[in-house]
Amino acid sequence: MTLPPAAPPVALILFGATGDLSQRMLIPSLYHLWRDGLLPKGLVLVGAARSPLDDDGFRAFAAESLGRFVAAEHKDDASVAAFLQDWRYSAVDVNSADSMATLKATLPSLTDGNVVFYLATSPSIYGSIAQGLQQAGMTGGQSRVVIEKPIGKNLATSIEVNQAVGKIFREEQIYRIDHYLGKETVQNLLVLRFGNMLFEPLWNNQGIEQVQITLSETVGVEGRAAYYDTMGALRDMVQNHVLQLLALVAMEPPSDMNAAAVRNEKIKVLRSLRPITPDMISTHTVAGQYTAGAVNSGAVKGYLDEDGVAQNSINDSFVALRADIDNWRWSGVPFYIRTGKRMPTRYSEIVIVFKPVPHNIFGRGGGILAPNKLIIRLQPEEVISLMVMAKEPGLARDGMQMRDVPLDVSLTTAFAGQRRRIAYERLMLDVIEGNGTLFVRRDEVEAAWAWIDAIAEGWKRTGHTPKPYTAGSWGPSSAIALPERFGHRWHD
Ligand code: BG6
Repeated sequence: MTLPPAAPPVALILFGATGDLSQRMLIPSLYHLWRDGLLPKGLVLVGAARSPLDDDGFRAFAAESLGRFVAAEHKDDASVAAFLQDWRYSAVDVNSADSMATLKATLPSLTDGNVVFYLATSPSIYGSIAQGLQQAGMTGGQSRVVIEKPIGKNLATSIEVNQAVGKIFREEQIYRIDHYLGKETVQNLLVLRFGNMLFEPLWNNQGIEQVQITLSETVGVEGRAAYYDTMGALRDMVQNHVLQLLALVAMEPPSDMNAAAVRNEKIKVLRSLRPITPDMISTHTVAGQYTAGAVNSGAVKGYLDEDGVAQNSINDSFVALRADIDNWRWSGVPFYIRTGKRMPTRYSEIVIVFKPVPHNIFGRGGGILAPNKLIIRLQPEEVISLMVMAKEPGLARDGMQMRDVPLDVSLTTAFAGQRRRIAYERLMLDVIEGNGTLFVRRDEVEAAWAWIDAIAEGWKRTGHTPKPYTAGSWGPSSAIALPERFGHRWHD
């Protein structure tokens, strides 16, 4: 069913407006949209947070955020000043009815609550904010609420968060952000798969040998120990970003790009993930924790010496897994996943390794054929490479010399001159326009947690604790061994 387009909102209220995410991503994204004329005419922007600021105080904060996080070539004094004029600020205590009434008074007249509430706050107060908004009469049928991860720390707590918000807002009013879905190359994955004839006929267990997803970061805890030390890589990255990528790689073609069609296909994949049972923990999972080492030529501390990390913490800063999708298309195809902090380089990549050709006609001369690979690099550069076999030039007489060479599509070059947008720009625009395709539905969040919980539980039951790895390395040696156990190797 296609829902009628939502009416353009008259206001956007950013809760947590003085927080880190707002400063780095959300205020700059709104600025870019505003500068390109993409925000609805007259949209009132309201910053809401606990800090006792007035409008001018908040505008100074937003100006500083633009100063730091918007490139010089995209701003000038006049446009920054004009953008800031659109902002108001309300110091809010979400548990106080008076305070919420004051917030409401900053808004223009509401018709059926046509406001976007962006909750860039701790998930622990999503429920209270939703309730406060309802009591203040701000949550009509046209209102939308945006929530960020983490949606809970496990299935049970994610149900609590979803229920608390779901009591006030209907599912189609709720936009759960996974910022990976706003990344250009992630959307490109859909175009690559479903906009070309070339790949889809091979996109199954007949044509594909294995799939690898790597999200590798050089940063450490970054002062977020209070959060990260209770989550770890499995919950912080795999439950959301990695599983969303996996779902997009593995899903069946949706009938079109509408929210229901795409999400109906993703949920089928998430529900088909084979549960990792305790007897699979040692063969299918590796947890790691970094020790002191060097990253980008600089010495860095070990995880346990990071500020705020618990003594003897057994939190995972790295995880590698083998996932299996139990359905017709993917039966027998391993999906190897790895993600970690303090790795040697920062990059995110999906690698599709195709099956070898059925018979090697060059084999007698010793010619070795590498399987074709499709490499989809999401960041830092956006590149899609197809590795194909080619003959090395020359007159070798003892058999053909061959090598795999890339057919590259550098999206940065192909679309040179177009500014690479912050993932949040795409997502904010979609919320404003009422398009939920790139947001995560409740059932997806819960299916992902169910799969993650089984692994966390298996670690506990089997006493599987993280293996140390030196910061700046590719994780514990057992992570290298994981795909080797099944006859495969990580793509480097
Ligand atoms: C966030 C995680 O969701 O994603 C962080 O909480 C992680 O720990 C970040 O650093 C990675 O995002 P990106 O876009 O930099 O790959």
